[in-house]
Amino acid sequence: MAMSDDLNAIQERVQEALAGAHSLEDLEKIRVAALGKKGSLTAIMHMMGKVPPEERPAMGKLANTVRANVDSAIKQARLEIAKRAMDEKIMAEAADVTLPGRRLSPGTEHLISQIREEIEDIFCGLGYTVEDGPYVETTYYNFTALNAPEDHPSRSAKDTFYVVDNAPEGKEKHVLGESDVLLRTQTSGVQVHTMEEKKPPIYMICPGTVFRPDTADANHLPQFTQVEGLVVDEGITFGDLKGTLDYFCREIFGKDRATRYRPHFFPFTEPSCEVDVSCGVCHGKGCRFCKNTGWLEILGCGMVDPNVFRYCGIDPEKYSGFAFGIGVERVAALRYDLPDLRMLMTGDMRFLRQF
Ligand code: DAH
Repeated sequence: MAMSDDLNAIQERVQEALAGAHSLEDLEKIRVAALGKKGSLTAIMHMMGKVPPEERPAMGKLANTVRANVDSAIKQARLEIAKRAMDEKIMAEAADVTLPGRRLSPGTEHLISQIREEIEDIFCGLGYTVEDGPYVETTYYNFTALNAPEDHPSRSAKDTFYVVDNAPEGKEKHVLGESDVLLRTQTSGVQVHTMEEKKPPIYMICPGTVFRPDTADANHLPQFTQVEGLVVDEGITFGDLKGTLDYFCREIFGKDRATRYRPHFFPFTEPSCEVDVSCGVCHGKGCRFCKNTGWLEILGCGMVDPNVFRYCGIDPEKYSGFAFGIGVERVAALRYDLPDLRMLMTGDMRFLRQF
């Protein structure tokens, strides 16, 4: 058989083999069989020396063409096999469009944010403004201008997160000593900021986070939320305080809940009270939830101490006012009978979705 027939036969055989090839391994076998060291085409190339000289150029040309064809056919087959593998992979992983779609789970507004907004709505309805204040405060705004004496126990590093450490050299450094800068322990400092910035009449609330070095337990959180309130105007009396806070309690807890005002002490108000609402579980009869008292404490309040007015440049002869501080987590706990405040901090959607 002429060499040219051999060459054409090799090309055909390769093409037939390629048509039946399914994997890259199959291709490699075909390539080695034709183009490898002992391959059929390689063997013919080696025999080129025996071809009569006058036929050699034509035969050489044909051999080169066959080799190029075989080579490019294998490359082409390789691309096709890769594409087929990709198509199969896509088909295997493709979405089954008949399945129901995956539902997004967007969460809900946190209970504390909801109640905070509800409180804002109640007071905005009474014409109050909503103010804001810094989380990192100076002792002046958190204590001094609020009439807290230098030795007031709430100033101690045990009850306040100090930010700058003024502890003397050599003293334990892992507990920050008292200093001038702290994480606010109450929103009451915003009263001072507001009175410095605005002239009376002032009717404002300030909702916000406060911090105290308490270990978290059923009734305490080291970070919680307060809503501070302040009214400064001419002729404001304790009657205004009581009317306002009674209205607030009925709005937030329901018309059937009673309130009671217990005398208390706060440095920034005189007289001062703590306000209790009647227990929603036993309706005042006494139960475990209210520790058998029939009452639950929800806020502190009082008539603004004239000293605070003086610190803020407001004339206590001309103006009077009242202030209050509501614990938002407490309101949540009392309204929904939550047994443990820590439930509010866990981010457990099974709990939070209920509200
Ligand atoms: N700052 C007080 C606290 O954290 C709450 C409070 C009580 C705020 C009486 C007031 C107030 O404005 O008049 O316990």
